[in-house]
Amino acid sequence: MELSEIRKELKKALKKERYEHSEGVAYTSAALAMRYDPKLVDKALLAGLLHDCAKHLSVETMLRLCKEGNIDPGDKKFQETGLLHAKAGVVLAQKKYKVTDPQILSAILWHTTGRVDMDLLDKILFIADYIEPNRTKIKPDVQERLRNIAFCDIDRAVYEVADQTCDYLNKKSAAISPVTAEVRNYYKQVCGIKEEP
Ligand SMILES: [Fe+2]
Ligand SMILES: [Fe+2]
Repeated sequence: MELSEIRKELKKALKKERYEHSEGVAYTSAALAMRYDPKLVDKALLAGLLHDCAKHLSVETMLRLCKEGNIDPGDKKFQETGLLHAKAGVVLAQKKYKVTDPQILSAILWHTTGRVDMDLLDKILFIADYIEPNRTKIKPDVQERLRNIAFCDIDRAVYEVADQTCDYLNKKSAAISPVTAEVRNYYKQVCGIKEEP
């Protein structure tokens, strides 16, 4: 499917704010790809555009998509917390938007939780979702710091985003996906970050 066609369809399907967020993630992902591996720019753009393509759907529809795509919807406790849309998004990206590239599908699948030992495109999307310019819910000083780190040290940025996500869920008393907690600890080690005294 042509990029212009994908944009047209997405615009129809998503609310204005979510569409704008998707464009922001697409451009931010492309910029990060330019920094770390320019060969990934096109894939990064597409992964960014489509990462939330299933977020507007009902839980029932997302569960149906997971079933159709043979994807385990995971623990019920995390199905309400917005993790399901990444899994359903993989199926929708294949069925509706005709994406076949495994790297793009993997980035969409892991964009909310991250995963241990991510490939570069996974990391790019995971970070771009958090730092894109339309994201305003994060404190400006935290955003500024993260945006800076993202273009200097990608593993450190992955750690910081996972850490912020865990903190945020903790404060909300929402369930933290064990995957995100694992990602935080894994990248903490990768970056050689010591425990605070
Ligand atoms: Fe998302
Ligand atoms: Fe998103």
